[in-house]
Amino acid sequence: MNFKEELTKRTEEIEALLKKAAPKEEGYQKTIFEAMNYSLMAGGKRLRPMLMKETYRLFGGSHEAVVHPFMTAIEMIHTYSLIHDDLPALDNDEYRRGRKTSHVVFGEAMAILAGDALMNYAFETASKAFDLAENEDEFHRIANAVQILSSKPGIYGMIGGQVVDVEREGQPLTKSVLDFIHELKTSALIECSMMIGAVLAGADDEAVNKVEKMAKNIGISFQIQDDILDVTGTLEELGKKTHSDEKNNKTTYVTLFGIDGAMKEAERFSADAEKILEEISESNNLTNPFLTELICQLVHRKK
Ligand code: IPE
Ligand code: IPE
Ligand code: MG
Ligand code: MG
Ligand code: MG
Repeated sequence: MNFKEELTKRTEEIEALLKKAAPKEEGYQKTIFEAMNYSLMAGGKRLRPMLMKETYRLFGGSHEAVVHPFMTAIEMIHTYSLIHDDLPALDNDEYRRGRKTSHVVFGEAMAILAGDALMNYAFETASKAFDLAENEDEFHRIANAVQILSSKPGIYGMIGGQVVDVEREGQPLTKSVLDFIHELKTSALIECSMMIGAVLAGADDEAVNKVEKMAKNIGISFQIQDDILDVTGTLEELGKKTHSDEKNNKTTYVTLFGIDGAMKEAERFSADAEKILEEISESNNLTNPFLTELICQLVHRKK
């Protein structure tokens, strides 16, 4: 397997799905469509939809059309979380995905509305999957997936994490509070993605629980890496300005353990995820070499 080629192929497939779902920029409310598409179509790694589809494949899912609305939806929810995360009242950042942030280009009111719009449009898009159900069993799996899509980004997930992240700015944090923040603000959307992939493919509850644990570890590792790159990366590579955390007085793994210490922790969480994936593979006689490689590569990512 040529990993890079496979990665490009998958990223392009996701770009095409997003392009198809993007609203037409017309009508009196045209500005909101422009703002939505400006952030959604600005690139980004497309990690969450990718993890969703690869988890669906891991569990032998074969009706891929049903995953596509959910892949689009999770990227819309993720993009909305970024637009709001960058707002002056939150991280107050000026660049995202290689472009000026939404509020810089469209103004704060429109950026807030663009985030709201992407969240609603995500559910509008995901619920189209019901029309594709081929039997009652699949219909129920889609209903289960919608439940996951509505809870993980919410108050017990991403939003909850953002609340603690923002509220505790400027305060020293213990590792356990920091892990709580990472688990909610970042792991929740990754859990959401991978659990939906597993559920739609028909994985049983035990397997879905394991997927949730694996995704939790991937998410924490991913956020530690994000905090490292905030110190060591460049605007060109990341598409966003570095030293945002320092500017906002955030406690991170880097401030607690230094760059090397943080890297070791990121590797440890990633190794835990890889171990759970191995367990899932062995007990269900399943493999997805691309997914295994993707998880390994993420921990040493540069963007
Ligand atoms: C950024 O997510 C926010 C975090 C949870 C660290 P990504 O690093 O996946 O951002 P994009 O989608 O590639 O822009
Ligand atoms: C944000 O974490 C996670 C979200 C839920 C959006 P960060 O604030 O560290 O993400 P970046 O660095 O701005 O992408
Ligand atoms: Mg933030
Ligand atoms: Mg931020
Ligand atoms: Mg960051």
